[in-house]
Amino acid sequence: MAKLYIFPGNGKGHIEPELQGHFSEHLGRCIYEGIYVGEDSEIPNEKGMRTDVVEALREIRIPVLRWPGGCFADDYHWKDGIGPKGKRRKIVNTHWGGVVEDNSFGTHEFMELCRQLGCKAYVNGNMGSGTVQEMSEWVEYMTFDGDSPMAALRRENGREEPWRVDYFGIGNESWGCGGNMRPEYYGDMYRRYQTFARSFQLEHPLRKIACGANAADYHWTEKVLETLFDHGYGYASGLSLHYYTVPSGKWGRRGQALEFTEEQYYQTLREAMKMEELMENHSAIMDRYDPEKKMGMIVDEWGTWYQVEPGTNPGFLFQQNTMRDALVAGIHLNLFQKRCDRVKMANLAQVVNVLQAVILTEGERMVKTPTWHVFHMYRYHQGGELLDSSLETGETGLEDCRIPELTESVSRDSEGKIHITLTNASLSENISVEAVLADTQIAAVRGTVLTGEMQAHNSFEEPERVKEADFPAVEVRGEEGRLSFVIPACSVVHLEVNVDGMEIF
Ligand code: AHR
Repeated sequence: MAKLYIFPGNGKGHIEPELQGHFSEHLGRCIYEGIYVGEDSEIPNEKGMRTDVVEALREIRIPVLRWPGGCFADDYHWKDGIGPKGKRRKIVNTHWGGVVEDNSFGTHEFMELCRQLGCKAYVNGNMGSGTVQEMSEWVEYMTFDGDSPMAALRRENGREEPWRVDYFGIGNESWGCGGNMRPEYYGDMYRRYQTFARSFQLEHPLRKIACGANAADYHWTEKVLETLFDHGYGYASGLSLHYYTVPSGKWGRRGQALEFTEEQYYQTLREAMKMEELMENHSAIMDRYDPEKKMGMIVDEWGTWYQVEPGTNPGFLFQQNTMRDALVAGIHLNLFQKRCDRVKMANLAQVVNVLQAVILTEGERMVKTPTWHVFHMYRYHQGGELLDSSLETGETGLEDCRIPELTESVSRDSEGKIHITLTNASLSENISVEAVLADTQIAAVRGTVLTGEMQAHNSFEEPERVKEADFPAVEVRGEEGRLSFVIPACSVVHLEVNVDGMEIF
């Protein structure tokens, strides 16, 4: 029996919708095929964007999309991707498979995609191999309304109005593929580049994101912040953090997406849980420089990273997605929400056909992965108020790999409904939960569950093997604010609670 305590009177902060953000890179079949098929394709599209994929992403209320990378960002020269498509420069995508990049998807196409998705734009600038001038001109091209060389060039290319760019990254993984820099050097370079990435729109200032650490590289965080804050002012709205869940397989290789043992399942979830410690330790460093929490932690790459599917291009990072990934997603989103005091955005890597994708495509076919369903269940938390909650729960796993059985997060939406999301990592135990909502009269509850065997997944042949189902077995107990239910093994659950005094569904 587990106990869940909820204190609806104790709000803990705003959950930015961006915590459920996504990431799209010119990598494998993410942009091309996965999102953009071109206007002449037989696959139904609007201005080249697959309508099935756009609809599926709208269904999960995608709040923000990051582009064009990733490692690709620091090799990307934006002027290659504007103007008539036939004249765009073809380049080699050296990071990802050495394939030809014809630049048919560029700035205009990305902004059109964000329009169709109804989401915010997070553009990542090239600091690694681009000049200050190039970055400065890109920002001017996208966001300046007046009369200037770049605004004129944009108009020449068919776009009169400037776009709104909400977030702008200054380099990506500058400690690695983005230039192999040391943190002090990056910090100085960041200060220089960001100076010329002007914020032209008063009502929508450009929120600049500095490159943060890889996983537990606390030295990077410390030194970058020391450099950014040496006059007491941090120059950045956010500092990124990248952390991938990488289970080990045989002979020191990464594990596989579909073939894995119970031991690897628990090991994967243990790796996912490390995000909690990483957020805590990086936050503690940020707190010293920025006690008022003006700078957000931006976890702009997270998710599972396995071996590629057999027979696919190793540079394309295409992997299947099972209930194990659903648990990884549910755990992460719960953890992000519980740290919403500091975490202001998180972007799953990547949105379609790459790593822990929410969508897979093959020709004209598309499947929603178990991870998509988790985002669909959690979408109610977007923009809500985090509520104080805690769990009394046991541990699960195998002998030397123990993790908490359950994780949770709770929010109240703008209509006053309470949303509870829970994960049960145990592969064998259905767990009875008693939830106590302090000082609350419950009027009605409804729920959804996603469950299956650990390797259950959706394929093009069987696209609905894993999908959300009603979770009706929630008992509202007579006394005030009590719920009891049994959360099945290997599952993610969402409960929506209407409290007394509210209109019932
Ligand atoms: O998401 C794949 C790659 O992982 C990104 O390009 C890079 O930023 C990270 O190392």
